Amino acid sequence: MAQDKKLIIANWKMNLGVHESSLYLHKLAEKVKIHRDVQLVLAPTMLALQTLSLQVNHRQFKLAAQNFYWRDHGAFTGEVSATQLRGIVSYALVGHSERRHVFHETDKDTRAKVQAAIRNGIRPVLCVGETASERAAGETKDIIHDQLLGGLANITSDELDQVIIAYEPVWAIGTGNNALPNDVTEAIVSIRSQIKHLYGAKASNEIQVLYGGSVTADSAADYLTLAEVDGLLVGGASLDAQSFATIVEKAYNSTKKGA
Ligand code: PGA
Repeated sequence: MAQDKKLIIANWKMNLGVHESSLYLHKLAEKVKIHRDVQLVLAPTMLALQTLSLQVNHRQFKLAAQNFYWRDHGAFTGEVSATQLRGIVSYALVGHSERRHVFHETDKDTRAKVQAAIRNGIRPVLCVGETASERAAGETKDIIHDQLLGGLANITSDELDQVIIAYEPVWAIGTGNNALPNDVTEAIVSIRSQIKHLYGAKASNEIQVLYGGSVTADSAADYLTLAEVDGLLVGGASLDAQSFATIVEKAYNSTKKGA
């Protein structure tokens, strides 16, 4: 495992408006305490980022963008760049399964976004994971390998310090069909071995790797106690402040030093 520090990210996807996001933030802020070994990150709708960044206690929560365009400026109607997000968010999701599969983003797009995030001082959370049919065909490791290689091409060892990887099997996202802890360990061991091959043993030990896919308040501890898992990327279960607060509590309990 990389670190004692755990990273817990709430991905609200296209849910909660600006007002609802603020209400949620206030509710959650009362329920969770600041813990030096747990970093909490909220990824609201793009519209709410600015408002939340003014309201949030930055020691308690950091913000993440769910998406952005990889060019910094220019004639790209409707897009928001990492340069524009700079100073508002600390993290950004890249290569999320919904971006890859619903919006057909390629490894080339993903790679350009990883670079754009780093260039703008934002930590990219590179999501990788296989579909159900790829898993059935025994291709899990190859898919992870290709997505890592595709997303990290041109990233130097120094830049890799900024990168976080999330193992998110596509079949587990939003389905209630969460991956078995042993399967998560196996996938993350394979991610770390790929990182070792590309960047060496130190990088492989230090890189933070999260699990995401139908994590609930009930299942969170099953992953957080795995030696290979440095945190969680939570979708559906993060939409309810109480259920997310319970997940955060499990993260506190899983750190060596306790709360
Ligand atoms: P889920 O989403 O927790 O609803 O499965 C996870 C994700 O998409 O990051």
